[in-house]
Amino acid sequence: MSNQTRRRQGAPKADQKKGKGVHVQDERFGDRPAPSRLGGFAKIIYFLLLAGGIYYYCSHMLWEKPQPVDVPEEDAFLAPVQVRELPGRGMGVIATKDIQRGELVLREKPLFVVPNRVSMSPGAVLLASLATLSPRQRASYYNLSYVNFPTGIPPDTDAFNEELALAIFQTNAVSAGSQGVGIFPRMARLNHGCSSAFNVIYTWRDGEGVLVVHALKPIKQGEELLTTYTDTKRPRHVRRQFLREHYGFECQCSVCSLPDDLSARSDERLTGMADLYTKFSSWQHEHVSGKEAIAAAISIWRLGEEGYWSERGQLAADVAHVAAAHSDVSAVREWAALAQRWYAYELGADSPQAQEMGRIAGQPELHAAWASAALGGTIDEGDRDYRSLDMAVASSSDVLILALGVVLAAVYLFRDQLFAASKPKSVPVTASKASNGSGNPRDFVAKMKEGKKRIVIFYGSQTGTAEEYAIRLAKEAKQKFGLASLVCDPEEYDFENLDQVPEDCCVFFVMATYGEGEPTDNAVTLCQNLSDDSFEFSNGEHKLPGLKYVVFGLGNRTYEHYNLIARNVDADLQKMGATRIGERGEGDDDRSMEEDYLEWKDGMWEEFARVMGVEEGQGADSPDFVVTEVSEHPPEKVYLGELSARALTRSKGIHDAKNPYPAPITVARELFAPGGDRNCIHVELNTENSGITYQHGDHVGVWPSNPEVEVERLLRALGLYEKKDTVINIESLDPALAKVPFPVPTTYVTVLRHYIDISAVAGRQILGVLSKFAPTPEAEAFLKNLSANKEEYNNIVTHGCLKLGEVLQVAAGNDIKATPGPENTTAWNIPFDIIVSSIPRLQPRYYSISSSPKLYPHSIHVTCVVLKYESIENSLVKTRWVYGTGSNFLLNLKFAAEGQQSPLVDSEENPDKVFFPKYAVEGPRGAYKSETTYKVPIHVRRSTFRLPTNPKSPVIMIGPGTGVAPFRGFVQERVAMARRTIEKNGPEGLADWGNIRLYYGCRSSKQDFLYSEEWPEYAKELHGKFTMRCAFSRETFKPDGSKIYVQDLLWEDREAIADAILNGRGYIYVCGDARNMAKSVEETFCRILGEAKGGSAEVEGAAEVKLLKERSRFLSDVWS
Ligand SMILES: Cc1cc2nc3c(=O)[nH]c(=O)nc-3n(C[C@H](O)[C@H](O)[C@H](O)COP(=O)(O)OP(=O)(O)OC[C@H]3O[C@@H](n4cnc5c(N)ncnc54)[C@H](O)[C@@H]3O)c2cc1C
Ligand SMILES: NC(=O)c1ccc[n+]([C@@H]2O[C@H](COP(=O)([O-])OP(=O)(O)OC[C@H]3O[C@@H](n4cnc5c(N)ncnc54)[C@H](OP(=O)(O)O)[C@@H]3O)[C@@H](O)[C@H]2O)c1
Ligand SMILES: Cc1cc2nc3c(=O)[nH]c(=O)nc-3n(C[C@H](O)[C@H](O)[C@H](O)COP(=O)(O)O)c2cc1C
Repeated sequence: MSNQTRRRQGAPKADQKKGKGVHVQDERFGDRPAPSRLGGFAKIIYFLLLAGGIYYYCSHMLWEKPQPVDVPEEDAFLAPVQVRELPGRGMGVIATKDIQRGELVLREKPLFVVPNRVSMSPGAVLLASLATLSPRQRASYYNLSYVNFPTGIPPDTDAFNEELALAIFQTNAVSAGSQGVGIFPRMARLNHGCSSAFNVIYTWRDGEGVLVVHALKPIKQGEELLTTYTDTKRPRHVRRQFLREHYGFECQCSVCSLPDDLSARSDERLTGMADLYTKFSSWQHEHVSGKEAIAAAISIWRLGEEGYWSERGQLAADVAHVAAAHSDVSAVREWAALAQRWYAYELGADSPQAQEMGRIAGQPELHAAWASAALGGTIDEGDRDYRSLDMAVASSSDVLILALGVVLAAVYLFRDQLFAASKPKSVPVTASKASNGSGNPRDFVAKMKEGKKRIVIFYGSQTGTAEEYAIRLAKEAKQKFGLASLVCDPEEYDFENLDQVPEDCCVFFVMATYGEGEPTDNAVTLCQNLSDDSFEFSNGEHKLPGLKYVVFGLGNRTYEHYNLIARNVDADLQKMGATRIGERGEGDDDRSMEEDYLEWKDGMWEEFARVMGVEEGQGADSPDFVVTEVSEHPPEKVYLGELSARALTRSKGIHDAKNPYPAPITVARELFAPGGDRNCIHVELNTENSGITYQHGDHVGVWPSNPEVEVERLLRALGLYEKKDTVINIESLDPALAKVPFPVPTTYVTVLRHYIDISAVAGRQILGVLSKFAPTPEAEAFLKNLSANKEEYNNIVTHGCLKLGEVLQVAAGNDIKATPGPENTTAWNIPFDIIVSSIPRLQPRYYSISSSPKLYPHSIHVTCVVLKYESIENSLVKTRWVYGTGSNFLLNLKFAAEGQQSPLVDSEENPDKVFFPKYAVEGPRGAYKSETTYKVPIHVRRSTFRLPTNPKSPVIMIGPGTGVAPFRGFVQERVAMARRTIEKNGPEGLADWGNIRLYYGCRSSKQDFLYSEEWPEYAKELHGKFTMRCAFSRETFKPDGSKIYVQDLLWEDREAIADAILNGRGYIYVCGDARNMAKSVEETFCRILGEAKGGSAEVEGAAEVKLLKERSRFLSDVWS
């Protein structure tokens, strides 16, 4: 897309310039030369362009419906640049300030996206899309330039309008990844430069649905921003010729104008580099060995810094993949870290590519190709198993393909301009005085200084808890000391200047731990930077003397590596000479995160005040939000439980945690035998046409609502029942500290039903806050006592499992067993903004996907045991059934799908127990129901819990209860592979496959044996390669009467197991209960391996298990 080659509507005709070859007449804009005969390299490029064209053509032919996308103003971030009329060249983009290399210069959502399949004529599709835009947005579309307007169409006709819309679209559209092809009016103003003159690059980010433009080089204020369209490693003379032939201009950039001797040297370097690239890329085809490939990469490195940073990033990434195939931990780390850095320059540190490299550098052994070079010999011997290695290569080439995809789609779309006459030149333009740039957005120190903040709080959070605690700390600092904080997602910042945090400031780290003691995704780079001795801060050293910090960790004691990340961060900072304020806090999610936090924070704040020289009482209790009732608002713009803007407008787009997909339930059935007191449901979710894909072992996030009884109880207790449907707007009074955690405008009832977690046990701190609004002095004293007296709180609230609405009722002397109504629920006068700021957002529930995409490509299966337990009786509240929010939401959907009402529970025999909870399963505006089909909002979360790619490796899976869920997917995956193998080679094709063993446990073979009818079928298809052992814990017992569990069966099979692991290089997978089962199973493996090694469980066995974990051959997917 080059603006220099197109004209605005009504602009004068372009100079007619004759190129070689055939000429195509364009009535408005003159002749444009068609491509001439090409040289060999150019042919490849031409072929790629053609491929882009074919792709685009196919996409066009198969189009289905338009996808209008709203363009919120704030998403069209354009701070350091400005669109300008450039003398003689039409519109262009210039820098309004000095821009650093790697800086994000533009972040833009598409004005609209045309999906890859539409059934109408393209012109009609575009007009339909344009009709959904605001007048301002439409104007920005029609302001764009275009070429290729067909001849002879009378103006002001439908045909004219369609063709005009199409011409603009074809001139400006850019691939928007899986979404389709989009229009980005600001980015469309970027002109092209030659391979040396270009200074920015644009990439589409599928995950976020935005296009980003990064600076490839430092750009001076006033310079034009230019993108590229040519291969960067052509020698200068080839490049100039190419530009002359295909774009019709003489490039005047600094490299093209080098004196001859320097130019020759540059050419030599580029030619050498191109050769080395060719050599490197042939390693996967066995032409060169892994070692030679790496040597080639190192030579490329030494040659200098030509080309895209992302190309260099990719080179480093590829080398990391080679190193992973050779199990070389330090080489993988080194290269992946380099790749991450190069990717970050151009694609952003938060790009998926940079993040993937961060993950690989953090955990080399989790790499898909790990040790694959050794599977069948070594890479140098040429007889290795390439399967997994190819996978790794594919993943890196995906990066290239993705990048190319964007470029190619654009290049094809703009083929006409590219081949048209043009005269681009990079001319500095005087900067506008109205520069609105605010510096590097990744520089947190600058932001602290700018905002006069003495505290910066980084949170490592996967599901939001650590973020909530980070915000709580920020609020407390403000209330206690009047100190403002910057609460930061570490993914959005760089840490090179951590040493520049001013002396009177303090850095907080609020860090959750996951998996085998891993950081959350958003904290991978932070943790790496802190622990990597070679990472230099701006002082040129890996030292942070004088830095003051606070650490609070979030973890769960049932996991082996309890709070490891907070501990590591603390140790790393200590090692670098930083000073911790107060003790390190550690919260245990299994028991008492809230209590652990409350206990830790007071001491920490005392010490904080002393070290920072501040006094309590300097702050004030100020609200976070202002809630306004809105009398007139277009009803279609009010959120009634929709989880994203797209869901509200019912427009298409990618589906992820920010835009869950309402998946139709095709099957929902009970897995336990009838008559029992527990439910376990199997749900099949249709993902066809949703763009959602998954792998075996991934998790699906299910977005529940709160049960109606709790919604009604709290509405009554807050005195909001009568105006539950009033439209409200909520604004943050300090957006840096407290973001409105759900979409607005909305209604009171929607907030309680869909957006905040009112079904969790009420926290101790909020009770103190709410006591001020008590309707009676008794109620006030009751809440104050609960808040101050930990034991009393545990006794009444924790053991009684009281939700917020219930605590308010108990405090006011209401009966919590009765259906909440005005007669039995006292109304409190609690400002709604306090509810919004004190109750966390309702989170999705995750389930291990129990199917394989190879058998069910468009269906995700969930195996969910329904949570129901009894509360512990206390002096005020008798024992009651307590129901898990998410699992009962799914059970409700199952009832609804079967056309049943939710049954009442124990209402006759035991009137003290509550009714089965009911949910508003039809969703906002009935969005989760169409005719008789119900839908459930979901998204998929990737996991590393995967089978080895080589089927020869033996596999041992342990999954009692619902822990069997992912293993159903694993076995299906192998069944699909077996079908293909047998089709090709007959059953003998499976002869050298490793055995996959499943250790399963449940209470009885008749009652809760999950998928009992399926396993024999899978075994048949796997021709003896799948075996299963079951522990029926309440059916068969040991001679001493104790239960038989999966770990007992493992011990019985110890010889075969030790052989599979130690001699067969087998893999172990454990899924299900983290609290007890997973620990016992691990201990049993220590015993088995200790014995096999002729030593003890504690020493040799534990060492072997540790090694297996390090090599990613012992993987867990456990929960408590
Ligand atoms: C990675 C992962 C994979 C998972 N896979 C599956 C799966 O495949 N199948 C499956 O069924 N579940 C799975 N789970 C569990 C699932 O995510 C939910 O936690 C589960 O369904 C309960 O959610 P809920 O909303 O019904 O309960 P919630 O309303 O969230 O209540 C759960 C809370 O209740 C409390 N609680 C639970 N039991 C008791 C008790 N006896 N006494 C007192 N308090 C108690 C605990 O505080 C617990 O955190 C998985 C979890 C994770 C993290
Ligand atoms: N936090 C939550 O909200 C939540 C929700 C759902 C599930 N879970 C967890 O997920 C796990 C699986 O749940 P589920 O209902 O599917 O399983 P389950 O039916 O409770 O248990 C499956 C089998 O495992 C056995 N078992 C119990 N303790 C064991 C141990 N220490 N080692 C090995 N086996 C043991 C059980 O035996 P017995 O019962 O006869 O002892 C039963 O035979 C549960 O253990 C639970 O901790 C948690
Ligand atoms: C799948 C999973 C794995 C976990 N692994 C660990 C672990 O290894 N060590 C630990 O201390 N806590 C572990 N936890 C507990 C989390 O750290 C804890 O729930 C924390 O509050 C999550 O914070 P977040 O919501 O900010 O992501 C794990 C939790 C889950 C769901």
